Amino acid sequence: MSEKIQDYITEYRGLIEKELTESLRKLSIPSQLKESMLYSVQAGGKRLRPILLLSSYQVYDGNYNKAMSSSIALEMIHTYSLIHDDLPAMDDDDYRRGKLTNHKQFDEATAILAGDALLTYSFEVVADDPNLTEQQKVEIMKMLSICSGPKGMVAGQFLDMEAEDREITLEELEQIHVQKTGQLLEFAIYAGAFLGGASREQLEHLKDFAYYLGLIFQVQDDILDVTGDEQKLGKPVGSDEGNEKGTYPKLLGLKGAMKQKEKYVEKAYQALRKAEADHSYLMELTDYFSNRDY
Ligand code: IPE
Ligand code: IPE
Ligand code: MG
Ligand code: MG
Ligand code: MG
Repeated sequence: MSEKIQDYITEYRGLIEKELTESLRKLSIPSQLKESMLYSVQAGGKRLRPILLLSSYQVYDGNYNKAMSSSIALEMIHTYSLIHDDLPAMDDDDYRRGKLTNHKQFDEATAILAGDALLTYSFEVVADDPNLTEQQKVEIMKMLSICSGPKGMVAGQFLDMEAEDREITLEELEQIHVQKTGQLLEFAIYAGAFLGGASREQLEHLKDFAYYLGLIFQVQDDILDVTGDEQKLGKPVGSDEGNEKGTYPKLLGLKGAMKQKEKYVEKAYQALRKAEADHSYLMELTDYFSNRDY
């Protein structure tokens, strides 16, 4: 990864974390609820989704102010999805982002409610942004609910659970990943470009880009669940095998999974070229998504 993209990621990660923390700190709510929301939000994720949203915005406009509320709203929803994903009823994992999972640190009821609170508060964050027009707010909130809700991430999580303990095809696996992971990435790309002023045609090509980026991200997540370093990842490896999940390495073998990832990378680059976004950070971020080791 080039030094330039590394600096970019570090700088924007800092900005996002500051905004996220401020927006939660100012809440007057029961203290343990607030503590548990902050606990997971501040546990130190990579912040890839908000970074992606800001860089998608910056393909079309340099100033990121308009894109910040959507970015932190998205990271709140992502964090909620992880809190619930780790619950005993779902993946039953004890570590996340290098720390105890929310339900281990607090208790299950608190973890469920912290997740609910992050989800619902994310919409208020967008609704309250003085930098957006009313029309922009409605469009963003609509897309955010579609991508994270029953047609998007939640559907993916449901299908992922339902597919445990049985053989699935590559097509089914792609469908699960496109929804459980791809939809939030699609929101990132769409919201950034929409607010930045992309044309309808560019938005269509970026949708294709997001589709492949989601698959790239999840193949790598599956690969890391096999080959990753637990310390670096901050979450257990081997969780998928333990839960008998359908994954790329399980279906295609490790080598096959890597080959499949390269195919997706080529498609993603193609879509970026069509969107005239191939000289942007999105190009380098694709490479980063594909080769990350945590
Ligand atoms: C993990 O996402 C969950 C998946 C969708 C596979 P990330 O790997 O982006 O998690 P954090 O935010 O960096 O912890
Ligand atoms: C989680 O997928 C995806 C969402 C929370 C939407 P995984 O179950 O593969 O994520 P990890 O591996 O626990 O981070
Ligand atoms: Mg899961
Ligand atoms: Mg999980
Ligand atoms: Mg995983």
